[in-house]
Amino acid sequence: MKQPGARNRPAATRAHPVLADVDGHGRLDLEDAARRITARTKAVVAVHLWGLPEDMDALESFADQHELMLLEDGSHAHGATWNGRMTGTFGTAAAFSLNGPKPLSAGEGGFVATDDTELYYRVLLHGQYNKRCRREIPTGHPLARFAVTGMGLKLRIHPLAAALARSQLTRLGHHLTGRQEIAGRMCAALDSVPGIRVPHVPVSARPSWYALPLRYEPAELGGLPLARFLDAVRAEGATEADRPGSTCPLGTHPLFRAPGALLPGYADRQGPTTDDFPAAGHVHATTFKLPVWHREADTHLADAYTAAITKVASHAKDLL
Ligand SMILES: Cc1ncc(COP(=O)(O)O)c(C=O)c1O
Repeated sequence: MKQPGARNRPAATRAHPVLADVDGHGRLDLEDAARRITARTKAVVAVHLWGLPEDMDALESFADQHELMLLEDGSHAHGATWNGRMTGTFGTAAAFSLNGPKPLSAGEGGFVATDDTELYYRVLLHGQYNKRCRREIPTGHPLARFAVTGMGLKLRIHPLAAALARSQLTRLGHHLTGRQEIAGRMCAALDSVPGIRVPHVPVSARPSWYALPLRYEPAELGGLPLARFLDAVRAEGATEADRPGSTCPLGTHPLFRAPGALLPGYADRQGPTTDDFPAAGHVHATTFKLPVWHREADTHLADAYTAAITKVASHAKDLL
């Protein structure tokens, strides 16, 4: 049955992303998510931010309870595990970015992991066309007739980039062990520093640490603003200490708030207001992040970063 307003929705998927707030740790707030479910809700997405896996026990039962498809965004979390199981293997499908300094990087590109054959054919037709679609979608399948054109898009990764990422797979486990050791060392050094909260890592989680997110408590440092604190930390040489930029409450992006100007299919879309996500706003306003290294030889860099933060925190009153 045609839904009201369907003609105004984008032709490709007719999907509308619905945002929900986070809890105090920056994880999806499942109570808030539950309030936003309607009869038309199809899926819930677990985003393993900074490489720290979401609580997949809770998300799996949430998806079961509400009869939703579970999807994952593992773009920060290649090789990270929850209860010993890799992120990307919980959902019906998972998207992974391979761009920039991701734990597994191809320079640019990404991939989808799924064990659902029907979905796989649709993913193929979305990103590829012709040869690979003709080779992989069985001739008798109802979607096979679209193989030559796919969906009219070409979104596939450059083969050289895919080869670069693939060649790193044998080293990924070793790199992640190194990242976990160095992140653990940084957390131990910062655990008792006033004004700084290290991330809470549940016992079930083995993170990949795309970056180390730290929470800032200005009240413990005489109200010193985070921006001023970070300027001082960078002046100590920890130049990559930074606040998350685009990784912010998604409702603040015009693409979600007022997409109609860019995407006519969403012209009738009333986007969320930033007031809808108070916890996400607070988590973002009080988070800064550090790089995490994987080589033992780089331990001195991690130590220099934690020393810079410790020094600035101990001199906070001089910066007011
Ligand atoms: C959590 C998350 N998901 C998805 C993406 C999109 O990845 P890409 O730019 O490779 O499409 C990013 C980008 O870095 C990200 O941080």
